[in-house]
Amino acid sequence: MTSRVIPVVPFVLVVFGATGDLARRKLLPAMFQRHMAGQLPDAANIIGASRGKLTHDAFIALARQAIIDHVPADERNEADVARFIARLDYVAVEADDDHGWLDLTHALEAYHDRVNVFYLATGPALFGPICERLGRFGLAHGNARVVVEKPIGNNLESAKALNAAIGKVFPEDRVYRIDHYLGKEAVQNLMALRFANFLFEPLWNAAHIDHVQITVAESLGVEGRAGYYDTAGALRDMVQNHILQLLCLVAMEPPARLDADALRDEKLKVLHALKPVGDPLSTQNAVRGQYRAGASAGGAVPGYLEELGAEASSTETFVALKAEVENWRWAGVPFYLRTGKRLAERVSEIVIAFRPIPHSVFAPSAGAIEANRLVIRLQPDEGVKLWLMTKDPGPGGMRLRSVPLDMSFANAFQVRNPDAYERLVLDVVRGDQTLFMRRDEVEAAWSWIDPILDSWSHAAEQPKPYTAGTWGPSAAIALIERDGRTWLDGSS
Ligand code: BG6
Repeated sequence: MTSRVIPVVPFVLVVFGATGDLARRKLLPAMFQRHMAGQLPDAANIIGASRGKLTHDAFIALARQAIIDHVPADERNEADVARFIARLDYVAVEADDDHGWLDLTHALEAYHDRVNVFYLATGPALFGPICERLGRFGLAHGNARVVVEKPIGNNLESAKALNAAIGKVFPEDRVYRIDHYLGKEAVQNLMALRFANFLFEPLWNAAHIDHVQITVAESLGVEGRAGYYDTAGALRDMVQNHILQLLCLVAMEPPARLDADALRDEKLKVLHALKPVGDPLSTQNAVRGQYRAGASAGGAVPGYLEELGAEASSTETFVALKAEVENWRWAGVPFYLRTGKRLAERVSEIVIAFRPIPHSVFAPSAGAIEANRLVIRLQPDEGVKLWLMTKDPGPGGMRLRSVPLDMSFANAFQVRNPDAYERLVLDVVRGDQTLFMRRDEVEAAWSWIDPILDSWSHAAEQPKPYTAGTWGPSAAIALIERDGRTWLDGSS
């Protein structure tokens, strides 16, 4: 079975930072996959733009290598790679002076009537200078859209400054702030699950849900990104964006329709309803950790400081938080959030833990009755599990067992799961902002995060150490067990 392909309109995609990691690992392979799917019209071109003096041929060689490195061999062939590569062009452009901008302007003249997508796959320091030049060189016309990646700022103040710099040139309805988690199939499925089924919505509230857990665990360390990561840390890198977006999709009210502003209005209300975490040291509602040397996938791995090449750092590579949404639907329901590098396994999931039954009709010999839980698994194997109590088969009286109704998307649909960027970049071309963050959302998320960052920056206490390959510092386990609950592993 193949997924339905809806062709997009003619476009040109200009990637700033075209020789960087994001372009090579994600953007070029994503566009190649869409080319293979037949979704790109003939009039779809990509212009790589970067500083430095790459020749056209050197860029083409780099792009070809990116496809070979990041698209599985059985999903490409030489003829198609050649056809895709024929769509590419290259312009050397300086982001913070005017060199190369006339060349870019000339290269785009032929494409003026198409959708022009400017993808800033650069550090945020260049967002303002690039947008300013796009405006000054007449490239921010009505057909032009700009795409920016996180981090959008380092705190509320810097996020506002970045948004203002972008907003001077592009109106909000032509600004696309990517959070690639929103492009993941399982995340979009969360909306289908909630709003295309009658079953869950009546139960989706404090009367029936005991608590929610959101885990985004990675087994890798910071790899080659220690320089960036040390200025960010897990709270900024993962919680401010990806995890809060997941929380919003779980907690929001049903929008009146699935259009960009209706959805984003509802997410914004959730962000505004988040209770301040307070001073993490006194409330104990936030735990930060940093990995030490340990073992991962059977091999010894270095600690964060060794990877960073520094003697000391107070950057957290792990965070656990207890969040609360203060509204009628969720009053009293904790949302436990955790994310970290070098954890025991790579797994991302949302667990909706329902309340226990009010009264058991079964004898104690039937065994413990576990509360139902709905597990939405984002990765590695996307799917949904609903854990139910059933009778253990066979004679010998009534014994109860918790078993999952298990829907693995790979088995159910037998399609390749597209990478989030495949969906998101084409949504920009389509002009659909539903899966992109609006300015006020980003700023509301920072408003909640900033006080936590502030208290940590003033705390004498350092992040708690944890051994690589474990589930983080023991304080994170204590955070949830203090409430009489435990972190749930949906696959268990
Ligand atoms: C990025 C973070 O946004 O998301 C990385 O900057 C993290 O640190 C990555 O590794 C995780 O994305 P995914 O899709 O692999 O879960």
